Amino acid sequence: MSTKEQVLIFDTTLRDGEQSPGASLSVQEKIEIARQLEKLNVDIIEAGFPASSPLQFEAVQRISEESGRTVAALSRAIERDIDEAWKALRSARRPRIHTFISTSDIHILGKFGHERYGRTLAEKRQTILDMAVRAVAYARTLCDDIEFSAEDAGRTDPAYLAEITEAVISAGAATVNIPDTTGYTWPSEFGKKIAGLRERVTNIDDAVISVHCHNDLGLAVANTISAIEHGARQAECSMNGIGERAGNASLEEIVMALKVRSDLHDYTTGITTRELYNTSRMVSSLTGIIVQPNKAIVGDNAFSHESGIHQDGMLKNRQTYEVMTPESVGVPQTHIVLGRHSGKHGLQARLDTLGYRVAGEELETVYQRFVDVADKKKEVYDDDLRVLMGDELSKPVE
Ligand code: KIV
Ligand code: ZN
Repeated sequence: MSTKEQVLIFDTTLRDGEQSPGASLSVQEKIEIARQLEKLNVDIIEAGFPASSPLQFEAVQRISEESGRTVAALSRAIERDIDEAWKALRSARRPRIHTFISTSDIHILGKFGHERYGRTLAEKRQTILDMAVRAVAYARTLCDDIEFSAEDAGRTDPAYLAEITEAVISAGAATVNIPDTTGYTWPSEFGKKIAGLRERVTNIDDAVISVHCHNDLGLAVANTISAIEHGARQAECSMNGIGERAGNASLEEIVMALKVRSDLHDYTTGITTRELYNTSRMVSSLTGIIVQPNKAIVGDNAFSHESGIHQDGMLKNRQTYEVMTPESVGVPQTHIVLGRHSGKHGLQARLDTLGYRVAGEELETVYQRFVDVADKKKEVYDDDLRVLMGDELSKPVE
């Protein structure tokens, strides 16, 4: 039995992910992705923001009807949004209302007008705190599982963040999410923020601390891992890292970083990692957002080796250049890319799998012909090799 502590994976591909520029999904497409997320075994599926559009409402409703997971729906900290979220969620086996409001000074001063929220920053902060508490308490009259997010927590004053966290936990929030909404924080700083909350908030053990990191500086996964090391037990993330602007922390990177470096810590996730690649491909093809070839874990090149030295090492022992197996994330096999950097050994191994046994003098000749082809092309494909082998060279071995 594992003694490791579970980190909950809260997938927001269908909510924040769908807010990526250019990504919009039909209800049916969202249902398909939700089914795949279940196979992946995520703990929470954030299905959408019901008050924002009829399509979002319907998608949350349909996913709630069929999913066995916790299904979360987003709402601003106002009753109208909370009511819509609840209407969409009510048939879910495990519904969660996720309500949020901004807490950083820059958001408070920029987004909330004097008349409704108060004249000074102190007055506005108090109004926001009251709204957060009222929203959580109201949502709690409808649903047992409430998550509260302090939007732009990454840039929120620590004392105020602690005050609001304590208040929403007292009002009934079971999860308090600390988003780095603008992807501004630095891993050690963000880790300290989480540790600081655990020190200041007297009822912190009554709630799960969650984090939701954006990737504006490319630090979303590092910030998430740092937060986990300092006490966060829910990671909000999306498949392929899609989301607002530069996106969210990428689910596959968090999960595999925790898994591959399990020697360094005591945390685990329930993710079925062999479903990562399939999920990535499905999300990419349905959203139309391509996965960059060098993307960690799921990119086309993540298990490809082109240089001769690397290919040679790989053929002797995969661990020389791979820290995880492609099979562990559902990629069918390591891809040896044959191109101008490849060596004889790599060529010989590929020919062998194609059924051509060449060695010695013959290999030299074939290799020279291969180099000529490789100089003209980015990649030498199996069909090129078949042509190159021709009839005058060695015939396929039966
Ligand atoms: O980035 C953010 O702050 C959010 C919240 C709504 C959780 O997406
Ligand atoms: Zn976000």
